[in-house]
Amino acid sequence: MKIKLTKTSPEQLKTPPATLSGVVFGTVFSDHMFCMEWDDGKGWHSAQIKPYGPLKLEPSSMVLHYAQMSFEGLKAYKIESGEHALFRPRENFKRMNRTAQRMCLPQLDVEEVLDALKQLLRLDSGWVPGEDGTSLYVRPTILATEEAIGLKVSSKYLFFIILSPVGPYYPQGFNPVNIMVSEKYVRAVPGGIGFAKTGGNYAASILAEKEAKENGYTQVLWLDAVERRYIEEVGSMNIFFVIDESIVTPMLTGSILPGITRMSVIELGKHWGLHVEERRITIDEVLKGLEDGSVTEIFGAGTAAVISPVGILAHKGKDFQVGNGETGPVAMRFYEHLTGIQYGRESDPFGWLELI
Ligand code: COI
Repeated sequence: MKIKLTKTSPEQLKTPPATLSGVVFGTVFSDHMFCMEWDDGKGWHSAQIKPYGPLKLEPSSMVLHYAQMSFEGLKAYKIESGEHALFRPRENFKRMNRTAQRMCLPQLDVEEVLDALKQLLRLDSGWVPGEDGTSLYVRPTILATEEAIGLKVSSKYLFFIILSPVGPYYPQGFNPVNIMVSEKYVRAVPGGIGFAKTGGNYAASILAEKEAKENGYTQVLWLDAVERRYIEEVGSMNIFFVIDESIVTPMLTGSILPGITRMSVIELGKHWGLHVEERRITIDEVLKGLEDGSVTEIFGAGTAAVISPVGILAHKGKDFQVGNGETGPVAMRFYEHLTGIQYGRESDPFGWLELI
């Protein structure tokens, strides 16, 4: 792919924040972005790296009305050797293609977009932060841009990648979060778009999360939409339970996001010889296990959240403490090891790091 380069003029270049402590996740952006366009009959074209800035979109652009879109989230790290590396980037672009299939978006050439991302990252390499626990969050996005208000498959798209230097996703960092089971709302239904990384799933979760926050909880734990019994995910991360020393996570049923951190936790756990189960798991099993002590830990896993221990699980107005409410040893082990690989401190037996 030929990429046209328009650099930000020296006077317009911004200075990356000296520290990310106190900077809210995803609110600062680097100097450049990658864009390309799609037209039916022409395919992807007009690939360019240009100054980060507003998009030019007609108010009639289809994505603004019907949300035909997909986004991804991955991170670039400054690793121990001083080099920069991405974590499993092909998995994100492969997932974007699976979302694209469901959302009728055009497919990407995984190697071409990865190459474009690397070029962007090399240009904005000064934005990869070096502070402990920080990274450069990468947000690839595809939008339907045909100017038409009738509901149909768009014939035009915009793909872009933007970069944001980030610290922890939750203000509490790697400390336990309190989550609340949503009884009133559901996130995704069988046959719907729950497995896809698309804005509508996140839009559907906002009201529940707002209400959870008003009640003092950080996030919502979603149950399945049909029986309202089976645990699905948290919305900004997948969920894991330590039950009688086994690592248990809800199996992918089509209404759960197939997280790349989720997949990495499963692979790492199996590699360590732990018993890892992907199966259906009911809220009753978890609550009973919290009461009789067989559920010793709960933690979330996601790109933005990394590994996030859960201290309290609330259900029907009652708070259930997880273990002693502190970060447990299993969550700690996964956090240490996963971030160890991501920052090049640990060996990378799976070849998950991709140097930039
Ligand atoms: C991520 O973990 O990268 C996500 O896309 C979740 C989002 C709510 C920040």
